[in-house]
Amino acid sequence: MRTAIFGQGYVASILAAGLQRIKEGEIGYEGIPLAEHIPESIEEIELVRAFDIDERKVGRRLSDIVSWYWNGGISFENDYTVKRGYRQPQRSSGEGGEEMLNGAMADTGLEEVVWRLVEEYERDEVEVFINLTTTENVQPFHDATELERAIRENRYDRVSASQLYFYSVTQYDKPSAFINCIPAQIANDPACVELAKRNSCVVFGDDGASGATPLTADILEHMRQRSRRVLCISQFNIGGNTDFLSLMEPERNLAKETTKSSIVHDILGYEVPHYIKPTGYLMPLGDKKFVAMHIPYISFNGAEDELTITARINDSPALAGMLVDLIRLAKIAIERGEYGTVYPINAFYMKMPGPRDAKAIPKVFAFELVRSWIGYGSIDIGDGEREKGGGTDGGEPEVSN
Ligand SMILES: NC(=O)c1ccc[n+]([C@@H]2O[C@H](COP(=O)([O-])OP(=O)(O)OC[C@H]3O[C@@H](n4cnc5c(N)ncnc54)[C@H](O)[C@@H]3O)[C@@H](O)[C@H]2O)c1
Repeated sequence: MRTAIFGQGYVASILAAGLQRIKEGEIGYEGIPLAEHIPESIEEIELVRAFDIDERKVGRRLSDIVSWYWNGGISFENDYTVKRGYRQPQRSSGEGGEEMLNGAMADTGLEEVVWRLVEEYERDEVEVFINLTTTENVQPFHDATELERAIRENRYDRVSASQLYFYSVTQYDKPSAFINCIPAQIANDPACVELAKRNSCVVFGDDGASGATPLTADILEHMRQRSRRVLCISQFNIGGNTDFLSLMEPERNLAKETTKSSIVHDILGYEVPHYIKPTGYLMPLGDKKFVAMHIPYISFNGAEDELTITARINDSPALAGMLVDLIRLAKIAIERGEYGTVYPINAFYMKMPGPRDAKAIPKVFAFELVRSWIGYGSIDIGDGEREKGGGTDGGEPEVSN
């Protein structure tokens, strides 16, 4: 499973370190949700390339960059160099008030950028691509021809980096997968899903559900099942990594808020005043963010209860562990020819599961959806498998095409 990454930041670096340590038998499969439930072997995942726009990273070896995030000292079987990615030019005003485009590639046509990237993919024989770039607020295209036109007409202002990367993957002449872990709408944009279907591409997304959001989703389901009426939800995160730093820009935070908030109405079935978003950057917390949650609710005879949760959660390993599953699930989807997007996968691993208008569901249910998609015919109840439907096979997957 030859994998390339857009954005060699914290998550990508922890993924590389963890995979290498697994291969060397140094650590186990903790933090990988479906570790041994997926037939594809973890050891066969190969990270072969990354693209970034940070000048301190471009041209540097993977091992150098990983050492900025993880100081365990590690050598990689494929110590690739990071290549230059695509930076969306920004609009600004010139001295005479005229509008200017600033960006390394603003003078290069978008189609040319795409073909340069595709050449790199071909050289590295990439099968799976992961988008781990900085959060950006993206306007969906809705219609595939609009996205194609924006590329053709060099609409630098309209085509975000994530959209350009996604488009480039669909132009690559090999069945492949694009895993969108950031809040940009890709699996939720019908334009992208249509392009993916047309061009033998699988797309998973959007925005990896790794931290407090999946926990909130399962707590809300608990409330729903017990007919407890939720009065409001406060959930905030403060972290000290660069992802949190970038989310302090209002535009970027808005994108994150949208993906996190979609769970409330989807699960409870009614509107509840809520505040669910990253709230602050505090450098000393580093990657281990502080999460707090408060959910007051009405119980029998009007009793008012409340739930409060506080946690410290290492942010990057939480997503990196899920990526070990997503790469292998992408491989299965490509082999089955399930092009476009795959809801059962998105429902478990993503905050805003595509396709557009698909519901966010509690992760405890979504877990079973993924297992059933893989081919398991039984429900996982922890210490044994409970038979479901007609399938009973002692927990082995009945992988179907
Ligand atoms: N648990 C988690 O950490 C988690 C959960 C869900 C989603 N995410 C999302 O995953 C993404 C990565 O998180 P991170 O903690 O690794 O962030 P990070 O800031 O450490 O890394 C982001 C990297 O992307 C690079 N980048 C920015 N624009 C780029 C472009 N146009 N092309 C190529 N590279 C570009 C940056 O230079 C940086 O190296 C973020 O968007 C975040 O919102 C993270």
